[in-house]
Amino acid sequence: MALAIKADNLTKKFGSFTAVDSISFEIEEGKIVGFIGANGAGKSTTIKMLCGLTKPTSGLMQVAGFDVAAHPEKVRENIGYMSQKFSLYSDLTVRENIEFYGGVYGLSKSELKDRFTWVVEVADLRGRENLLTSDLPLGWRQRLALGCAVLHRPRIVFLDEPTSGVDPVVRDKFWQLIGQLSAEGATIIVTTHHLEEAEFCENIIMMHLGQIVVNGSPEGIRRQFSDLPLFEIETAQPLRLFNILEREPWISDAAIYGNNVHVYAETNAPDEALEAVLKRNSIAEFKIVKASPTLEDIFVKQTRAQGGKSRD
Ligand SMILES: Nc1ncnc2c1ncn2[C@@H]1O[C@H](COP(=O)(O)OP(=O)(O)OP(=O)(O)O)[C@@H](O)[C@H]1O
Ligand SMILES: [Mg+2]
Repeated sequence: MALAIKADNLTKKFGSFTAVDSISFEIEEGKIVGFIGANGAGKSTTIKMLCGLTKPTSGLMQVAGFDVAAHPEKVRENIGYMSQKFSLYSDLTVRENIEFYGGVYGLSKSELKDRFTWVVEVADLRGRENLLTSDLPLGWRQRLALGCAVLHRPRIVFLDEPTSGVDPVVRDKFWQLIGQLSAEGATIIVTTHHLEEAEFCENIIMMHLGQIVVNGSPEGIRRQFSDLPLFEIETAQPLRLFNILEREPWISDAAIYGNNVHVYAETNAPDEALEAVLKRNSIAEFKIVKASPTLEDIFVKQTRAQGGKSRD
């Protein structure tokens, strides 16, 4: 499988602060890859380096087969980038924005005509071509921004938080659009805070404090962490049990879901330890079930292992 992206020990410092800390990863051509992480994890900085928009302090990057430092213009020809901050001109109409970006990417008249129709179609903007971009709801603007970022049919598309602030229906529509680009052969790199969006990605790279804490397919990652000591305890007294378990030093996390208490029990024989606590506290009827970790459980576990929650 050919590689769309290869990064080796990529580092970005701002003064003495390390925003991206020697990360290495590979992205195969044609994949949909999600960078997941909390505020300040280093997602945008990584993407900007890959796009040649900011120089790394050290490390190597190949994008679309080109060394980014040596051939930034070649890289630029092959990528589309939708920035986290609004990338359209709000005082231009839909039509004017598309025409503007067509000019930026040097499309011929006939190419622009063809792509104009495509963007209007996929962004669901037919009949709205002459509206001011600032008058469009956020979801439409985001799709227009994506359309403008891929007018030149780039092989690799970087989308930085494209779904932030939109409702789930709009978000799903946006992901359909991503799926469509992927079906046409593009490699998609998308950043998000939302772990549920990780399920739409073929591979996910979880970042925390400038480092990669997990990298793999959603199923592969779940398999890798399937033995996390997570348990669901069914009881008639969930609140009481929760209060009891919270006091145990080997329980690092507990949460109530209906009649269940979910716990993360870090001890040698967690099921026995749990049973002992329940009996000691005269909780008679209970059922302990080993739970499969969700991607969120895994992310929490891995970020905790790195220390701290977020830098922002
Ligand atoms: N130009 C800059 N100068 C100084 N620090 C910066 C600069 N750009 C980013 N940072 C810092 O680097 C860290 C990583 O920022 P980055 O924007 O890459 O994170 P992110 O994962 O994209 O976060 P978010 O989810 O909030 O978009 C943050 O602590 C940020 O404050
Ligand atoms: Mg960001």
